[in-house]
Amino acid sequence: MKIEYQETTSDLQTRINIHSQFGSRNIDEWMLDVIRPIKGMNILDVGCGAGKQCFSYYEHLGGDARITGGDVNKDMLAEARITARKKKAEINFVDLDFNQHFPLEADQFDLASCCFAIYYAENIPYTISEMHRVIRPGGRLFTSGPMPTNKQLFYDVIREATGKTIPPMPGSSRYSTDIYSAIQALFSKVETHVFENPLNFESVEPFVAYTRASLSEDRKLWNSFFQTKDDFEQIMEQIQAAATRRLAMDGKLVMTKVVGGFIATK
Ligand SMILES: C[S@@+](CC[C@H](N)C(=O)[O-])C[C@H]1O[C@@H](n2cnc3c(N)ncnc32)[C@H](O)[C@@H]1O
Repeated sequence: MKIEYQETTSDLQTRINIHSQFGSRNIDEWMLDVIRPIKGMNILDVGCGAGKQCFSYYEHLGGDARITGGDVNKDMLAEARITARKKKAEINFVDLDFNQHFPLEADQFDLASCCFAIYYAENIPYTISEMHRVIRPGGRLFTSGPMPTNKQLFYDVIREATGKTIPPMPGSSRYSTDIYSAIQALFSKVETHVFENPLNFESVEPFVAYTRASLSEDRKLWNSFFQTKDDFEQIMEQIQAAATRRLAMDGKLVMTKVVGGFIATK
């Protein structure tokens, strides 16, 4: 399946900032708690974006690890390299398209992770087999992604605002099913950990900003809702009105992130 998707650094950063400002739990701490990385590890982060998980590993391990981040988006990689220079962090950021053979040797990584990215793969079993190939025997894979109940409020408000059926999202519609099964088919042991983080909004603005960043980032997935910039602005006005009604009715807007972490052993 070809996924029409293009992340932008500003949309991604907007959502990351809203998670940390309005949520009470820290997903990076949860991830580290599930993985428990140890010093000296050789780690690969696939779909690393601007390097969020790479920097978490680096800081957690006090820099005592070999870390490689790979992504197909050159702007994201450039951003990651700038941050690495600022932090004086030795992390290797490489061009890596996870729809193709990874430019990496087999059996070398103690850990390969792929956070909020695996569901954009055109052929999930292939991408998982590439991660499996580069992990050493006994090494582990960690993935994170949205569970089916993720961000219920977001979809409810969009449904209410537009009266339309939400298109299947590549993440939540198949992360806990197809992607889990593909991991299970190749790895010896798979565990699931669930992270829930309610984002509490007392005004509509941050909810609308989150929605704007999500819809604009995934605009091709939402093309039955809007095609032009004007359609987009019109939909955003309807969403703002629906969110305002909800807020008046319920006194607050609570959007809960429900994330699954799968950890598997080769
Ligand atoms: C939602 S972002 C997550 C980035 C990062 N892991 C984080 O959590 O901040 C999804 C990432 O997947 C990357 N991606 C999408 N298609 C890809 C591909 N074919 N190969 C490698 N990375 C890809 C995007 O460029 C983007 O950086």
